[in-house]
Amino acid sequence: MKHLVGTGNLWKSCWCAAGFFLANTFATAAAPLNLIPLPASVSTLPGHFWLSQKTTVAADTLFTNEAALLTKALHLASSTNADGDGIRLTAEGAGKLGDEAYQLEVGTHGVIIRARTAAGVFYGSQTLEQLVTSNSLEIPCVQIEDAPRYAWRGFMLDVSRHFFDENTVRQVIDQMAAYKLNRLHLHLTDDEAWRLEIENYPELTRIGARGNATDSAAPAQFFTRGQMQSLIAYAAQRHIVIVPEIDMPGHASAATRSFPQLDGGAKTFNPARPETYDFLQNVLLATMKTFPSPWIHIGGDEVNRASWEKNPEVREKMRTTGLASTADLEKYFMNRMGKFVLDHGHTPIGWDEIVAGNPAPGTIIFWWRHNRPDSLAQALAGGYSVVLTPRTPCYFDYPQNKAYPNAAWKLINTPETVYAGPVIPETINAAQRRQILGVEGCLWTERVDTVPYLQFMMMPRLAALSEMAWTPDGRRNFAQFNARLKPFLARLQQQGVRYYDEQDPVGSFRSTGKYTGNLPFTATAASQARN
Ligand code: ACM
Repeated sequence: MKHLVGTGNLWKSCWCAAGFFLANTFATAAAPLNLIPLPASVSTLPGHFWLSQKTTVAADTLFTNEAALLTKALHLASSTNADGDGIRLTAEGAGKLGDEAYQLEVGTHGVIIRARTAAGVFYGSQTLEQLVTSNSLEIPCVQIEDAPRYAWRGFMLDVSRHFFDENTVRQVIDQMAAYKLNRLHLHLTDDEAWRLEIENYPELTRIGARGNATDSAAPAQFFTRGQMQSLIAYAAQRHIVIVPEIDMPGHASAATRSFPQLDGGAKTFNPARPETYDFLQNVLLATMKTFPSPWIHIGGDEVNRASWEKNPEVREKMRTTGLASTADLEKYFMNRMGKFVLDHGHTPIGWDEIVAGNPAPGTIIFWWRHNRPDSLAQALAGGYSVVLTPRTPCYFDYPQNKAYPNAAWKLINTPETVYAGPVIPETINAAQRRQILGVEGCLWTERVDTVPYLQFMMMPRLAALSEMAWTPDGRRNFAQFNARLKPFLARLQQQGVRYYDEQDPVGSFRSTGKYTGNLPFTATAASQARN
């Protein structure tokens, strides 16, 4: 411990956190390494490396960003490009590793993180940080070889129904980065509000950004272009791409409140008006200018066509375009907008309803309707890449516990069901399974209106999602995951971050301040019947 005497406050706080876990670590001789997501291969070796304030980080110039982040996270004095005892981040010998793969070697005289890409080095650094913060400053010698199961490891945050500000989104990014998640999908527009500043359409944020799901008169809240660029850069440093979603032609009320001439009724855009397409194309151009993401999500879910049916202007549009039904008009709408995105060098993403319209090759499908396995099958048979986001188990607005009051109107997604992952129908063959890019957890926020409740809905399901998305088949085990999770939850507790505790479902829910009803909760007959 002599390395640690007389050090600065930051270092002390790191030491205290680690010291807390040292007690746990030494309580059992062969304590497991507390890593989440569990790496593909871990071999522990005899001996330890003592991390001290004098430890330096030496990195290839390619990895300067990752070295700086690691130095800061471990509260080391400085990082250096010189070789030396300590932590080395290098591409040497990593030529054969995959895009996000890394090797982490801890020896008695130092640590080497080897990767071909900065992303790989970043993931190796996350693993090293977990060895320190979840285990101890006395890092056991270890050889880790690691690479993800899925390329797309996403989390979606709905900032329309309730707005979550830049600071909160940064915290979400920090959590995602710690668990090696790599896509933050922001649901930026919906009926309740429009949350992104768009060049040339100030009405969208002056009018459309007002209100939320609990208070339609709430003052306007949105991300300015500058704030969003700052978030994009913060995420990019952590190897997370922010993927924007502009939902259409349904979920359009905030936009049509701002521009009533675009209103198609029943919360849709008017598909008959040329102005609608001009407007959405300009919005997409502005979005592509702000977001470097190669992917632009254009929604396409839950379109209520009832008022289209009755609208003579829409019927005329169908006649002149040669479309037999409003269902065909919806397909035309989404295909036209998807093609616009493709023509501008980006990949369109849509919710799985759009499969019905045979979108352009290259479009990515987000399969959310767990009760429509036929839609997943159709997407895969059509050759599309798919991200799995089925409501169960991927919707994080669904309650974690069937005894919770909101269980009456939702299915239940426990950390264990999230960990088990989406059920892929047996009929999907091996070649089609390879079209599955990955998975995403979706936090819709109709009822999520505070940061503590947001945290409670995220954790520990985000950790469970990350291991499901990262750790290879054959190595995932929920009981072991739960044991490894303990120090992570203890850290959240120390940091004042709320989380769902299945050992204390009442207390943990109450800690969010969200629930003030009678205790204990009683499960409704409806929710019991479903489980
Ligand atoms: C969705 O839940 N409407 C994608």
